[in-house]
Amino acid sequence: MSPDLVRIRKLSVELGGNRILSGVDAGLARGQITALIGLNGSGKTTLLKALLKEVPFRGTIEFHCGHDHSHPTPQHIGYVPQRLQCDANMPLTVRDLLALALQRRPLFFGIPGAIRRELAGMLSSVGAPHTLLDRPVEKISGGELQRVLLALALHPKPELLLLDEPAAGVDFQDQESFYDFLARINRETGVTILLVSHDLSIVSKHSHHVLCLKDGRIQCQGTPTEILGSLRQTFGDKGLFGHNHD
Ligand SMILES: Nc1ncnc2c1ncn2[C@@H]1O[C@H](COP(=O)(O)OP(=O)(O)OP(=O)(O)O)[C@@H](O)[C@H]1O
Ligand SMILES: [Mg+2]
Repeated sequence: MSPDLVRIRKLSVELGGNRILSGVDAGLARGQITALIGLNGSGKTTLLKALLKEVPFRGTIEFHCGHDHSHPTPQHIGYVPQRLQCDANMPLTVRDLLALALQRRPLFFGIPGAIRRELAGMLSSVGAPHTLLDRPVEKISGGELQRVLLALALHPKPELLLLDEPAAGVDFQDQESFYDFLARINRETGVTILLVSHDLSIVSKHSHHVLCLKDGRIQCQGTPTEILGSLRQTFGDKGLFGHNHD
């Protein structure tokens, strides 16, 4: 079995006539947490979208997991987006958002009791209170939303979890517990994680491998310790340390 769950070769993406990613070669090691770092606009979100087949790309992305990834929307991938693009006027509650993912029937038929209990369990599994269920999605805080999206991404159990700055809206105190939680599900379930972060202290503490993007190309990669010096060169001593960009 290949040690990489995902192998990316010569990946290039062009959007709106601009080259966004060029010749990206990288692997996502099975069962490990890979951090994806780089300055704003370096192509991190675009790389995640290529893995999700949400943008056209050249090159190859091979999934070595035994599932069919030729499907337009790959299964077995959980995704927490950097921002949610939905109509702020849509009166969707957290319960509706989660129930839509769980049941294959329209909401106007109602949500059965068994599903309601499962929804409460989904929230408590990510440390969010079940009282969030009744709240409109557009009214909950950034940190609460990220937890709801994480609960959604973990169901059904993914083999690959793509997290695009998942703690950007989370309080400083809650960030540690958020990342400890991610590390725990990585250990306990063996899920492979690709995590976009600007916080190099989080990256060095919680990732096994780091991919560093610059202007759409891999500038360096290795263990956090191996490339810390190189990261400092790219970002400076302050820059991205302990700081979340939006
Ligand atoms: N649909 C699009 N059409 C044209 N250009 C795009 C499109 N989407 C993204 N871009 C451009 O591609 C570049 C990379 O964007 P991307 O969102 O991948 O960066 P990022 O590394 O995630 O940045 P950030 O840290 O700010 O989230 C940016 O210059 C962005 O403006
Ligand atoms: Mg981004």
